[in-house]
Amino acid sequence: MSRFAHVTGWGMAIPEKILTNYDLSEMVDTNHEWIVSRTGIVERRVANDEETTASLAREAALKALEIANLKPRDVDLIIVATSSPEHIFPATACLVQDQIGAVRAGAFDLSAACTGFIYALEIATQLIRSESIANAIVIGAETLSRFVNWKDRETCVLFGDGAGAFVLQASDEPGGVISTVMRSDGSGGELLSLPAGGSKLPASKETVGNGLHYIHMSGREVFRFATKVMSQATLDALAKAHLKIDDVNLIIPHQANLRIINMAAKNLDFPMERVYVNIDHYGNTSTASIPIATCEAIQNGKLKPGDKVVFVGFGAGLTWGASVAEWSKPFPTERRVYPARYRLLARIRSLLLRWVRRIEGWIWGNLR
Ligand code: COA
Repeated sequence: MSRFAHVTGWGMAIPEKILTNYDLSEMVDTNHEWIVSRTGIVERRVANDEETTASLAREAALKALEIANLKPRDVDLIIVATSSPEHIFPATACLVQDQIGAVRAGAFDLSAACTGFIYALEIATQLIRSESIANAIVIGAETLSRFVNWKDRETCVLFGDGAGAFVLQASDEPGGVISTVMRSDGSGGELLSLPAGGSKLPASKETVGNGLHYIHMSGREVFRFATKVMSQATLDALAKAHLKIDDVNLIIPHQANLRIINMAAKNLDFPMERVYVNIDHYGNTSTASIPIATCEAIQNGKLKPGDKVVFVGFGAGLTWGASVAEWSKPFPTERRVYPARYRLLARIRSLLLRWVRRIEGWIWGNLR
């Protein structure tokens, strides 16, 4: 019997603080009209001092678990796709695991820039389909505001912070994620990069002084690449699913630039009314843009159970990809679960584990 991976829960978390184009025009040499006409962005969210990639990821995950009516302890795997991880290690996914009390879950981060959510969706799907796991949380989470040079008008107007999450669950019923294509071209790596802070250029006075810990981008080149790959990835994923573009109810693209989205829809000869766009409110939230847009599409009645939906994205690497899914709904369950209530329990558990580790260390040190 075949096994399928259904999306049974979804959630998003965005910072409260809004940064408008007008605010930006007081910080760098730009203006509202230029930003809207060249990108479609009107405002974006920016994390406050307490908010981090992990805290946004945790909130999105708890909301997704609540919709799926799934306890954190029943989660087998957490993947956080992110371009702005909390640290190089430990993985942001492990921080989320601890903060929600997913005591039986494996956890790791996935780095494929803005395409990361699609890659993560595919990995979770295939692990479910191969019966390795039954329940997964896939999260896209970012605080890119911490990596943007707020003096560089070509990049600082584009990015925003936020997180979105899907719960994926195994079922024998056909549906869920049907097909995915993942692509890359490392020869274009320098077009969009964060040069320092890794092993090649460890943090030093020089790297900081030269602004190498900020996002560097060749906007026009990335634009050209994006317009080429969005439509092709969509068609490739549909072919793999044995579907045609006419079968698609909704396309949810990575929200990087409204002009890129318009061009992709035109290349596909697909009506813009059936392409979900919310870039005006959030800017480019990288890995989080597709799950955030999905949550909103459901809220606005644009995505319903049974619909065929395409997720398509591109980003640094270069990477790109697309997924086709038959949209599902939460599985019926007997008892209601409120995962947000597990937040406190998880905190207590985490503190206890830290104490036990300290006591064990003390005993170990004294017995040697
Ligand atoms: N405000 C005002 N003017 C700006 C500006 C800003 N924020 N940013 C750039 N400009 C200027 C440029 O300096 C340039 O001036 P010049 O002609 O005097 O040299 C002019 O606007 C046109 O620049 P150009 O780069 O050709 O603009 P564009 O139409 O390509 O738009 C981007 C720039 C960055 C919006 C666009 O290239 C883009 O969106 N690229 C893709 C980026 C992306 O998606 N990155 C994330 C991938 S996941």
